[in-house]
Amino acid sequence: MGVVRFSVSLEEELLNELDRFVKDNIFSNRSQAIRNLIEKNIVEKKWHCNNVVAGAIVLIYDHNKKEIVLRLNDIQHKYFDIILSSQHFHLNHNFCFEIIAVKGVAKKLTELSDKLISIKGISHGKLIMSKTD
Ligand code: NI
Repeated sequence: MGVVRFSVSLEEELLNELDRFVKDNIFSNRSQAIRNLIEKNIVEKKWHCNNVVAGAIVLIYDHNKKEIVLRLNDIQHKYFDIILSSQHFHLNHNFCFEIIAVKGVAKKLTELSDKLISIKGISHGKLIMSKTD
């Protein structure tokens, strides 16, 4: 893909923020950082659309916190129509690793994922989505 150059006008303060963003994220230059920001924005928009997509929700949590297990189960039953399967791995004595395969309208997947990831005590959560066509 060809690269097109264009100039951008920014307030000095915002430019300093951009340079800090470049440095913090170890981007090689401003263009790469801006590219990343634009792509992230586009992806986020797609996450709220009505397209049918496939995805996986990854969760890591401490199963000793019993209320997490109950909440996970309750929420997943409310979204049974978009959950294809879930896999549970016992990482060690305390931590569980769960992968929930999902398929459905992107915004509904995002809604489910947000609910699961925001359960108090979840150590890590992430949703990945992919087009189905
Ligand atoms: Ni477990």
